[in-house]
Amino acid sequence: MNFREKYGQWAIVLGATEGIGKADAFELARRGMDVILVGRRREALENLAKDINAETGSEVKVLCQDLSEYDAADKIIEATKDLDMGLVNYVACLHSMGQYNKVDYSKYEQMYRVNIRTFSKLLHHFIGLFKERDRGAFVTIGSLSGWTSLPFCAEYAAQKAYMMALTEGVAYECKNTNVDVLLLTAGSTITPTWLKNKPADEDAVAAAMYPEDVSREGFDQLGKKLSYLAGERNRINHHKRISEHDRDEIIEELGKMFTHMA
Ligand SMILES: NC(=O)c1ccc[n+]([C@@H]2O[C@H](COP(=O)([O-])OP(=O)(O)OC[C@H]3O[C@@H](n4cnc5c(N)ncnc54)[C@H](OP(=O)(O)O)[C@@H]3O)[C@@H](O)[C@H]2O)c1
Repeated sequence: MNFREKYGQWAIVLGATEGIGKADAFELARRGMDVILVGRRREALENLAKDINAETGSEVKVLCQDLSEYDAADKIIEATKDLDMGLVNYVACLHSMGQYNKVDYSKYEQMYRVNIRTFSKLLHHFIGLFKERDRGAFVTIGSLSGWTSLPFCAEYAAQKAYMMALTEGVAYECKNTNVDVLLLTAGSTITPTWLKNKPADEDAVAAAMYPEDVSREGFDQLGKKLSYLAGERNRINHHKRISEHDRDEIIEELGKMFTHMA
């Protein structure tokens, strides 16, 4: 499906420099959209912009912005106000590994600004804009940990749960409009961040997907599903986990996977 015809000219990927965001940016350009890449590393973003343009012919802009800045959402809204915005893809989500109390609280505040404050302000703005003109899409990247919880990465899982619940609720509210909202949940995905924090569990590692597959499979579901978990193996494993185990057992199992991060 040509997303540009359905949603509008421009897609913005928040957290596009590497991993799932980079794959999403390529995929959106392949689906006909011009793309705005947001991240902090200008040189890497500019190289990516050249690569996407060379492969797809789409126009690509770089918007260097730290999403943890207090007015990050306002700056993004201002920078996009004269463009025909079609799709917003919120990918960036900060995390911190280790025992909850041993992480400096300022790190949690930085996470809060990226994962909750900037995210919710952009969701609120763009859903309003898209509903007003009855066209557009918003895709949030979720994590299985937001449906469970995650010892030794507890604040991340809690903030992810917020992003996921909010996106699903808004997705339902947009159901009978031409605004498509999707929570695209990823399981283990082979990105630079994941490679630094790999779980000590062979099943989880074996189920890991490539970011390009998450993006392709996920965007195929936009407009069809409100909430979608990428990967057949992830769907089977998640269903088995929640149908065969109680919450205590699930927390124990996840905790053991990340004890090495304590
Ligand atoms: N990888 C997995 O196994 C996995 C599994 C489940 C869910 N997810 C979710 O998938 C998404 C992407 O994960 P990922 O592993 O690809 O990478 P990630 O580490 O979450 O994201 C990296 C991207 O976010 C940008 N970013 C980070 N902090 C930023 C900030 N303060 N301001 C602006 N941009 C910032 C980085 O670019 P710059 O450095 O240039 O800023 C980079 O492009 C996240 O929402 C994550 O929760 C990932």
